[in-house]
Amino acid sequence: MCGIVGYTGRDLALPILLGALERLEYRGYDSAGVALIENGKLIVEKKAGKIRELVRALWGKNYKAKTGIGHTRWATHGKPTDENAHPHTDEKGEFAVVHNGIIENYIELREELKKEGVKFKSDTDTEVIAHLIAKNYKGDLLQAVIEAVKKLKGAFAFAVITVHEPNRVIGVKNGSPLIVGLGQGENFLASDIPAILPYTKKVIVLDDGEIADLTPDSVNIYNFNGEPVTKDVMITPWDLVAAEKSGFKHFMLKEIYEQPKAVLDTYKGFISNEETIPFWLKDYRRILIIACGTSYHAGLVGKYWIERFAGVPVEVIYASEFRYSDTPVSDKDLVIGISQSGETIDTKFALQSAKERGAFTVGIVNVVGSAIDREVDFSIHTHAGPEIGVAATKTFTAQLTSLYCLAARESNEREELLKKVEKIPALIEKTLAKAEDVEKVSEKYLKKKDFLYLGRYINFPIALEGALKLKEISYIHAEGYPAGEMKHGPIALIDENMPVTVIAPKDRVYEKMLSNIEEVLARKGIVISVGFEGDKVLKEKSADFMEIPETEEVLTPFLTVVPLQLLAYFIASKLGLDVDQPRNLAKTVTVE
Ligand code: G6P
Repeated sequence: MCGIVGYTGRDLALPILLGALERLEYRGYDSAGVALIENGKLIVEKKAGKIRELVRALWGKNYKAKTGIGHTRWATHGKPTDENAHPHTDEKGEFAVVHNGIIENYIELREELKKEGVKFKSDTDTEVIAHLIAKNYKGDLLQAVIEAVKKLKGAFAFAVITVHEPNRVIGVKNGSPLIVGLGQGENFLASDIPAILPYTKKVIVLDDGEIADLTPDSVNIYNFNGEPVTKDVMITPWDLVAAEKSGFKHFMLKEIYEQPKAVLDTYKGFISNEETIPFWLKDYRRILIIACGTSYHAGLVGKYWIERFAGVPVEVIYASEFRYSDTPVSDKDLVIGISQSGETIDTKFALQSAKERGAFTVGIVNVVGSAIDREVDFSIHTHAGPEIGVAATKTFTAQLTSLYCLAARESNEREELLKKVEKIPALIEKTLAKAEDVEKVSEKYLKKKDFLYLGRYINFPIALEGALKLKEISYIHAEGYPAGEMKHGPIALIDENMPVTVIAPKDRVYEKMLSNIEEVLARKGIVISVGFEGDKVLKEKSADFMEIPETEEVLTPFLTVVPLQLLAYFIASKLGLDVDQPRNLAKTVTVE
């Protein structure tokens, strides 16, 4: 939800800010803008639409500024217009602010400021910050920020510059993510690490309640009382190639192809840190898994593994539902929060609430140093590298890997079960080698308006995930269902126009799936199936058949999801849609 960036150094700020914004665009793409300090004046350029609109507006303008801030927006307060685009300024145009998050008491603050005669130019909650800082400015930007922050309520991160101190950028973090990048003779602020990867790997991850004060040659961190805080510098393991398309048409496709590596790296990471895991799932009466979106689907698959290998009952709950629920939780429960970004606010708040209710909390996160990574009692890291495509793919299979390993560790057959993971990357490679077949299938379904996805047992969550992928990026309505539930409703939708994607590897429910397929065929539905190579029976019953290599039941979700990711990708791509930045969505959701 919104990406913010700041730069102060010896180079031209504008190209650095625009490049960083492009790498942050996955966080929001309703509008974009920059503010620069040039010859003692504040220049603000902002535009509704994607960053390319801003770049067009800046064409031929040769700004020489060496300090600036930038923003890419996912609209919350106010429509995505030029006026509501960030940066926002004070009345005199001396202070500019970019902001991610929500100022919850902005209406009250706005009214107070209006009474004092301040005139507002936008409908945003952000503008109050610029006015408050200007009002409190007495020659030191840091002091003005400290005074302004005292008034603000909500979860936010913002960056501010002023014409009065042209080589200074100040960033504030309280609830939304913000990192500092340390360069030589230059320093950076950004919502996320990929933004600054071309320039530095040295990062300070700010905590809530902290302020970063940047000049080209110094970085100082303070708390909200203005007291200095000592922070660790982290060297990020991510590299620039990981955050670039590397010849693929879209990040999503590249990330689908990175899954063998994501699984292997996550597995290796798990094995080398296994001894530090301070808990046994078996010691708890129940495991609760909390997550959103694709991470929630990974949690649903995890339930089958944990119940099978560890024998502990598992409940999987949407984070947004858990937080306000009356679900009894105590120190007899272990709560696992799964989040790629580690910043999803619903998951973070749900974990906080679980902790308050006495549970031991564990995170499965891809971003080291993220809010959830720090919030939980213990973190297990997925090693998928940065994921840029809004629709999650490689982080999903990486999350599956962590969950599988965590469950396998509890079994008497630990070694044997863990060893099985080593063969998954090659099996995914084999599945990916059939991508062209999936592409051909996709061409037949571009005009369809609805899809049904069916799966049973451990592949039921994969039906949900397949349907989510399709609706996220192709805007085609798709529903995932446990195949056995079809007869209780969805069957009424089936006719000769309805494609039904069935997941039917030869597992304990294979025969049942075949019966469900017959039920679809009897209503003239179009069956697209995912099954083991060489499965003639399934192939004969299907209008289209997408094959995966044969493997044992417990490993099938790692493979069945791949053709479904590809199917969604090819449909959206052939429809000419913006696969990496689907409308209305954002990669990191930091609002409730
Ligand atoms: C957004 C993204 C999804 C993601 C979900 C949860 O909706 O578009 O791809 O699955 O958030 O994100 P998290 O970072 O918590 O895994």
